[in-house]
Amino acid sequence: MDITQLNQDFGIDGSVVFTEELVGFPLIKIKNDFAVAAVSMYGGHVISYQPVGADHDLMYLSGDVVYKVGKGVRGGVPICWPWFGPHPTDSSQPSHGVARTSFWQVESTETTTTGATRIILKLTDSPETHELWDYSFELRIAVTVGKTLNLELITRNTGDQVFEITQALHTYFKIGDVDQVQVLGLDGCDYIDKVDGGQIKTQLGEVAIAAEVDRVYSNVPAELVINDPALSRKIKLISKNSTTAIVWNPWIDKSKTMGDFPNDDYKHMICVETANAAKEIITVPPQGEYSMAVAYQCEAY
Ligand code: BG6
Repeated sequence: MDITQLNQDFGIDGSVVFTEELVGFPLIKIKNDFAVAAVSMYGGHVISYQPVGADHDLMYLSGDVVYKVGKGVRGGVPICWPWFGPHPTDSSQPSHGVARTSFWQVESTETTTTGATRIILKLTDSPETHELWDYSFELRIAVTVGKTLNLELITRNTGDQVFEITQALHTYFKIGDVDQVQVLGLDGCDYIDKVDGGQIKTQLGEVAIAAEVDRVYSNVPAELVINDPALSRKIKLISKNSTTAIVWNPWIDKSKTMGDFPNDDYKHMICVETANAAKEIITVPPQGEYSMAVAYQCEAY
């Protein structure tokens, strides 16, 4: 991908700039009246979003992040697609599917009427994706950087066979202190407890983290909140066409096994993922389309 060409075709003076901080991994830098953000074309992956006036990025990005073809980026918003987690029937397949380890194309960039910046990246099936998942598709991520960060993941079936997907926007949020953080909105929701043999449990009260947490919640409401007293902020997550949410924090032992994740960083991140997963499997007929979306809104207090 030629950076000069990308800037010519899709750059917007001052607000959308293509760079290549690491050779072979183009990065889109976005800056407008509302926020600064960065999106990697590897994985169609938002790695940073910081509203103007905010003291901190919303996103956690590992200081030991590895950009390597075939490996997911540790932090930001990995796109898990067309399956979430392990492949449903074949454990030799990559965890979380093919989208997060593919290079995406730019479809369009624009400044909206409100002054926000909207970027659409696209991934289409290729010999590489067919090897892992033998369907024809177009997958788009529309990233709108404004007062809020809006993400829409649109799956289009361009083939003549029906297909099924599970998916997640696997967002790593930066937090001040894992001991104080709470996820609100999941009280009463059932979840699969992946650290307790996949048992089904029911959430009582708010979610707090005091050990490894890896839970797939079902029938979740459209609005969840991360309350982060240590950074004096709340992040609202408002989703559309998703009733599954994953909450993940690797805690101490798992952190030590992840080479691209500093040992103590579990204290400063939490994943709250907007998903269609577990029993929420999406069927997309030939020429059909499915869109899942989320908006992140940060309020300081
Ligand atoms: C979460 C899963 O969504 O992602 C966890 O629920 C998994 O089980 C985590 O460990 C990270 O996955 P990966 O493949 O990026 O290390």
